[in-house]
Amino acid sequence: MSKAGSSTESSTGGKAVYRNHAHYIAEGWSAEPKESFKQLAGIIAKKRAMSGLKVLDVGCATGELLGFLSTQIEGGSFVGVDVTPELLETGRRLLPQARFVRASALALPSELDAGFDLVCAIGCMSIFDETQIEAFWDNLFRVAKPDGLIVVLSPLNQFGVDAMIRHRKRIDSRLGGWETGWNTFSVDTIAELVAARGGKLQIEPFRIGIDIAPRADPIRTWTISVGENPRQLTNGLKLLVDHEFMIVDRRMSYP
Ligand SMILES: C[S@@+](CC[C@H](N)C(=O)[O-])C[C@H]1O[C@@H](n2cnc3c(N)ncnc32)[C@H](O)[C@@H]1O
Repeated sequence: MSKAGSSTESSTGGKAVYRNHAHYIAEGWSAEPKESFKQLAGIIAKKRAMSGLKVLDVGCATGELLGFLSTQIEGGSFVGVDVTPELLETGRRLLPQARFVRASALALPSELDAGFDLVCAIGCMSIFDETQIEAFWDNLFRVAKPDGLIVVLSPLNQFGVDAMIRHRKRIDSRLGGWETGWNTFSVDTIAELVAARGGKLQIEPFRIGIDIAPRADPIRTWTISVGENPRQLTNGLKLLVDHEFMIVDRRMSYP
């Protein structure tokens, strides 16, 4: 096992690993921007002028978000960080104007310190457990400029419960190893972590506006009708998944 945080294999200190990335290469970028990306662009536009921003995407996969933001932010500069070399190679090919760096969200290189007007981390916070979540937020604060904007999207729990979840699945009847990716922290825990770093947490719900059917991989989310909600996200872990945007605008931070 390699050093903690330096690869997907080690992203939870040897207990469970993040492996669910192959589809990002197999399926390529979506023809239409993802709904979450469009909502994110709206959040950014409410907070900053959409020009000249230095943008860092943590857990960038193949750079799909950076590609979208490069169409929304005029004259921006774009850096993506991920631990998976194949994803970064694909990103370099699809978005040559961006820079792709291999690094863990838990150990971002010091060359990135205080360098970014906008730091995004979409769909990767839930990879990290209670021993890693502080390092995750420390790193985001460290690479954001003192007046920067941090936006994280991840499932959160509204009942004050932190749930550390590991799963394993069978593909073609073959049992796989233990995986991470669905750890769900409470809003309260994240608000405390952010406040301890001098920030103020704002939450904006992401609720999907389209139906999604189950796919062959049971870990990927789909929508079901639950009570008043016609599009509750769920997955083969039998979770009710509610993604929330966590917004920290350091222009509004406590002293
Ligand atoms: C669910 S995917 C989200 C990808 C992309 N942000 C998106 O929204 O389409 C999680 C990403 O986090 C990356 N990842 C896993 N462990 C990481 C770590 N320790 N540091 C940075 N990225 C990591 C994976 O390789 C994968 O690209």
